Amino acid sequence: MAIQFTLNEKPQSVDVNPNMPLLWVLRDTLGMTGTKFGCGMALCGACTVHINGAATRSCVTPVSSVAGKRVTTIEGLSPDRSHPVQQAWMEIDVPQCGYCQSGQIMSAAALLAKTPSPSDAQIDDALSGNICRCGTYLRIRQAIHRAAELHTARAKAGEASALSQARSSPVAKTAVAGGAR
Ligand code: FES
Ligand code: FES
Repeated sequence: MAIQFTLNEKPQSVDVNPNMPLLWVLRDTLGMTGTKFGCGMALCGACTVHINGAATRSCVTPVSSVAGKRVTTIEGLSPDRSHPVQQAWMEIDVPQCGYCQSGQIMSAAALLAKTPSPSDAQIDDALSGNICRCGTYLRIRQAIHRAAELHTARAKAGEASALSQARSSPVAKTAVAGGAR
């Protein structure tokens, strides 16, 4: 029976063995190879995706368990690499060989969604299961702090723009002038 879920904001249906790991389905059935295979045992984090927003190891997640849920992969994090984590990663030039990096980025994005300005300890804790054989950990930590800054700056810019739009609307002008009831 087909298993249905949302993949990167689009409805997806796959007719596969329900016990097949989600990672296999993503890579082999759907051809989405941004998510990597490392250990296959939930030990390295290379296969990290978001399931309903939570960082999850897709190598040990049976595809049947995502039925009706939202799955996001590195390909769906943003349409144009504009996610603050992706921007910070490029700015700081984090990757070395690159193999672990989509998993690192997905774990970092899930962390920032919950904790917009994480401490070093919170970063180390959240990414402790993501292994990098090239040892890019210091740049990863630096990039997450930078992504937090970018995220905050965007939020402020969004608020300022919303406020200026509100000020220019006739209803808001009335409210700002003390005329609203
Ligand atoms: S491949 Fe999934 S944690 Fe290593
Ligand atoms: S960049 Fe090479 S394994 Fe992390």
